[in-house]
Order: sequence, then structure tokens, then C-alpha cells
Amino acid sequence: MKFFNDLADFSDEQLHALLQLAGRLDTHPEPEALRGKVLSLLFLSPSLRTLASFQAAMIRLGGGSFVISPTMSIHGIETRPGIVMDGAAAEHIREAVPVIASYGDAIGIRAFAQRKDLEQDLADTEFKALIDLIDTPYINMESAIGHPCQNLADWMTLDDFSIPANGGKFVLSWAYHPKALPLAVPASTLYTAARRGMDVTVLRPEGFALPDTVMERARRAADAAGGSVQETDQRTAAMEGAHVIYVKSWSSTTSYGDTIADQKLRNELISWCVDESWFDNAQDDCRFMHCLPVRRGVVVSEPVLDGPRSIVIHEARNRMLAQMAVLHQMLGNSA
Ligand code: CP
Repeated sequence: MKFFNDLADFSDEQLHALLQLAGRLDTHPEPEALRGKVLSLLFLSPSLRTLASFQAAMIRLGGGSFVISPTMSIHGIETRPGIVMDGAAAEHIREAVPVIASYGDAIGIRAFAQRKDLEQDLADTEFKALIDLIDTPYINMESAIGHPCQNLADWMTLDDFSIPANGGKFVLSWAYHPKALPLAVPASTLYTAARRGMDVTVLRPEGFALPDTVMERARRAADAAGGSVQETDQRTAAMEGAHVIYVKSWSSTTSYGDTIADQKLRNELISWCVDESWFDNAQDDCRFMHCLPVRRGVVVSEPVLDGPRSIVIHEARNRMLAQMAVLHQMLGNSA
């Protein structure tokens, strides 16, 4: 495996092999598998899970890793192309990325959406420009429009809890959040659930519909896998018979890049906080998923988050296992 950027780059057989390997590495550890291997980790955006789980994954497989982020004691990193560097930043990303990559056998890069231009973010322009600077294997640790490590861990979590693939109802719901957040998780989660063959409903208020290209890609994946994709702003209809609700906030797509207009829209939507009443007509054991971090009492009520529906901690641990599988295939002897 030379890169891990999007589940769409992998066949069903390859994805199932990764999921199987992730499970096997949990029950049958391989502490020598990546002995002597180094993973470079470049975080241009913040993290807890991705940062910790990649380092833990490398340690568990016998390798090592190092982290670079702009908040560390490094020279300021300039990211703008074609700039005269007479300001605070003393290093350009065009040198920093290949240098960091040259110290490792693979590199993980996180660079969130700029959230200024929807077309640029949908095209993942910034992430593509970064990986154009390197020729080592790479892992997308969340870009403007993708979060494949989260997606693989989520697929594993759905399997672990025996949530049906074909015939399983997956609700991807927007929730209130005080800030406009990127589209990467909702867009790639929608694709993942559709690719798994589930009947997916996107529940979102007006102004927050996912872009047509994102919906169309998911519909094609669902068609191929025997599932379906719908969208609505009607909570009761969306939750009817749901096996799982996956909650995430995201930016307004009608006001993308316009902070004031987005804020005005979301200020009216504070009631979009998931509480037990959301589950009234769902399956009795309907699960609650969220990629974390999550704001208690804002995105979801404490009783739901702390209650038996919530599988968010299992989901977060699966990040480490899923990434161990990716690293094993990318850097292991069979790579
Ligand atoms: N879910 C996730 O990627 O978490 P972090 O942003 O903490 O890495």
C-alpha cells in the first residue's frame, strides 16, 4: 500500500482484509512487525485521537514515530504559495514537508479545510499540494474532504456491534455547534455507510445540505452495495427504525466561507442537540456514534453520551486498531 487517502481507492476485498487485520492485531499482537520503521506525523491542525492513536499504533507494532506541528517550538511555517517571506515565518511548507517525510518510511498529514472556497475544499486542493511535495507512502489524517482513518475505524465499529450492513438504517445527523466545522467527517462518513450497503438518511436543517457531488458519490456507492441514500430535515421520519445515529456538526453549505451568515443560520438551531427523545421511534438498541471531540450538552445530552446507546469510546479505540492495520500493510514485510 503506497497511500491511504480515501476508502474509494480500495476494493471491497481490500477493505475487508484491512478490517480483518485490525481485529487480528488486537487479539494477536505483532510487536516486531514494524521494527526499525519510522512514521513521520505532520499536524497542521489540532488533534487528540489521531495524534495519540498513531503513536500508540507504531509502538505496538515495534516501530517509532515523531510529531511536528506549528504549535511546537519550531520556526513558523509559511503555507501560502508564491509569498515573499519577510514576516514571522522562517520556513516554508515546501521545504518542511519533504524534509519531515525524508526522516520516515511513511508520513501522516493532517490539514483541515480552509473553509473559504467550497470547490477548493471539495477538490482537496491543499492536501493534494502537500502530497505532491513527497514521494514516500502517505496517510491522510484528515484533509478538507476526507478522514479515511476515522472511516475505517467506524466501519469496524459497526461490525463489532453487529449493526446490519444491508438492511441496516444509518442516520447521519447534523447537530448544533457554536462554530462552523469542516465537511470531511460528514462527507466521508456518508460514503462509508453507503459503501457498507446501509440505508442512509442524512438529517440536516435547511442551509446545511451536503454538496451535490458528495451526495451523488454516496448514492453511487449505495447503488453498488445494495443500500440507499436519502436526505431530509424531518427528525421523526429520519429516525424511524434507525439502527445507528452518527452525529456531527458541519458548516452551512449555502453560506460556505461566510462566517457571519453561517453563524446567523446556526444560532437558530441550538435545539439540534441529540437527547433521548430523538430515539422515540428508532430501534430499541439504536446506537449513538460520534468521531469526537464532542461538546456535552451542546451536540448531545449527557444521558445519551454516558448511556448504553453510546459507543464513542469503542469507536475511538478502533482508530488505533484500524491504523495498525493500515501501517502493517504499508510498512510491514508484505508491503
Ligand atoms: N476523531 C478525530 O479525528 O479526533 P482528533 O481530532 O482528536 O484527532
